[in-house]
Amino acid sequence: MQALTQSGRAAGPEGNEPVPAPRLSGADWWRGAVGYEVYVRSFQDTDGNGVGDLAGVTKRLAYLAALGVDVVWLTPFFASPGFDHGYDVSDYLAVDPMLGTLDDWDELSVTAKQLGLRLFVDIVPNHTSSHHEWFRQAVDDPTGPFRDYYVWADSAADGGPPNNWVSHFGGPAWTMDPGGTGQYYCHLFLPEQPDLNWANPKVMEEFAAILRTWCERGADGFRIDVAHGLTKDPELRDNPQLRQVHESMHPMDVFASFQHIYDLHRHETAVLFQQWREAVADLGAVLVGEMDTRDVDRFAEYVKDRNALHAAFVLQVGLSDWEPATTITTMLEYQAKSNGGAAWEVSNHDQARAVSRYGGGELGLRRTLALTTLMGAFDGMLFIYQGEELGLPDAEVLGHIEDPMSARNGEGMWSRDVARGPMPWSTDPDKGFTSAAVAWLHTEPLPAELTADFQTDSPHSTWRQYRFMVGLRKRYPALWQSDFELLEQGVGHVTIGRNDLRIVGNLSNAPISAPALDGADIIFQSATDAVSLVQGVTWVAAEATVVGRITARLVAD
Ligand code: NOJ
Repeated sequence: MQALTQSGRAAGPEGNEPVPAPRLSGADWWRGAVGYEVYVRSFQDTDGNGVGDLAGVTKRLAYLAALGVDVVWLTPFFASPGFDHGYDVSDYLAVDPMLGTLDDWDELSVTAKQLGLRLFVDIVPNHTSSHHEWFRQAVDDPTGPFRDYYVWADSAADGGPPNNWVSHFGGPAWTMDPGGTGQYYCHLFLPEQPDLNWANPKVMEEFAAILRTWCERGADGFRIDVAHGLTKDPELRDNPQLRQVHESMHPMDVFASFQHIYDLHRHETAVLFQQWREAVADLGAVLVGEMDTRDVDRFAEYVKDRNALHAAFVLQVGLSDWEPATTITTMLEYQAKSNGGAAWEVSNHDQARAVSRYGGGELGLRRTLALTTLMGAFDGMLFIYQGEELGLPDAEVLGHIEDPMSARNGEGMWSRDVARGPMPWSTDPDKGFTSAAVAWLHTEPLPAELTADFQTDSPHSTWRQYRFMVGLRKRYPALWQSDFELLEQGVGHVTIGRNDLRIVGNLSNAPISAPALDGADIIFQSATDAVSLVQGVTWVAAEATVVGRITARLVAD
């Protein structure tokens, strides 16, 4: 068996630095972009309070530029009491003092531009904090103009909540008006996160102004939290229940026990996003929704015709367990129907890290790289979650749980904290993350090989491999610009053609023969053993993705 290498060069990242390429430009720049999610609180602390901050992001922008990403998505840094770590906003135009100041944002924005990086602000429109001035006024003055900014309803006949909707974080999605009217307000997350009433046009007006303000201050686009939420059934009907629920169930399982046709995934929200698009069109901002609809047709409606969202995350593909056959089928379905508006990711701050979810250790990393490489050959944006480029597994949390979903629902509940541990920049006791005695989320130390310092210096690191993979879209624009040709599809594997490029993604657990790569120059392989030649036949190893380029002669054939 002969291992194939890039023509004249070693296979894999060694010696293959990405060629610096011009910043993506034009209105459609986002289509070929690679984004990087920064979980701000855990990225870099600069003021010693144990919490990452905006100045910390600025300090580390050069690291992100060196990785080669185009866009940095910053998790919410607005004023917030922090019940859901920033996803409960009390002022959309102010920076949380724990994370910095508006001046810090300005500096971040200027530095990002100098480095050719774009910034996405994470906007939270489904709900505010209960500390937001709008909610305070809505409670204090039930006949005033802010009451209708939120979703209120009378109790059911027995005095209980108005319908059977449940909160993502446990318990009913309704809490009694603290103002004593006897009405309930709706909250699909914590009681401290009251849902906004998007049937009220004033709410759109408020958000149009907020979006424009951030664009004028340097934002290039937005990640939209719970974009599949926002509008509700006007009659607030009960959701169909799919199975019995019981007390010991995880809130996520309780939530999944209902069909969310009346509280989420509404057609009205897709219509609303046309107004969002109009609100920022002249400023060129890009709108990328967090989209947890598991229905490709509804998804397509949210990103259709270039007049709603630009793109949306296909959450179920990246965030499920290792399910090669389903993953490939679903990716192809979204590829076919979503107008290039998919944003792909294998993990984010709400899920177990991909390396751990996909089996842990070398196996988990191998699978993560295979799937991420394959995603890069599909239409749409590709996002990397902080630490993924180091191959980080789930963090071991020491001390108390921070995630409100778990903290409120009893001992031993799975927690999102595992994905939110501080970045391991170095082997310092504080990981180079903070000078505080303990970080806001205290996690087990990590070995030197998993730190950024070590990996950026090492020629064979996961970081180098990611850098090379991230650079592929710039070195070979055909990867996202040329027609997507489905050349072959099998159970857990797929072969794609894009002009002279051939991408073979074999997520299955057995090697496959790959005639599409015969005679090709191997541009990238997700593992060192990914491609081989056995008696004249090209094979792609199990759980590996290979990108090759065929010669002009083969294209002509
Ligand atoms: C999705 C965010 O990613 C998550 O962290 C947050 O808890 C919920 N939306 C509520 O805003």
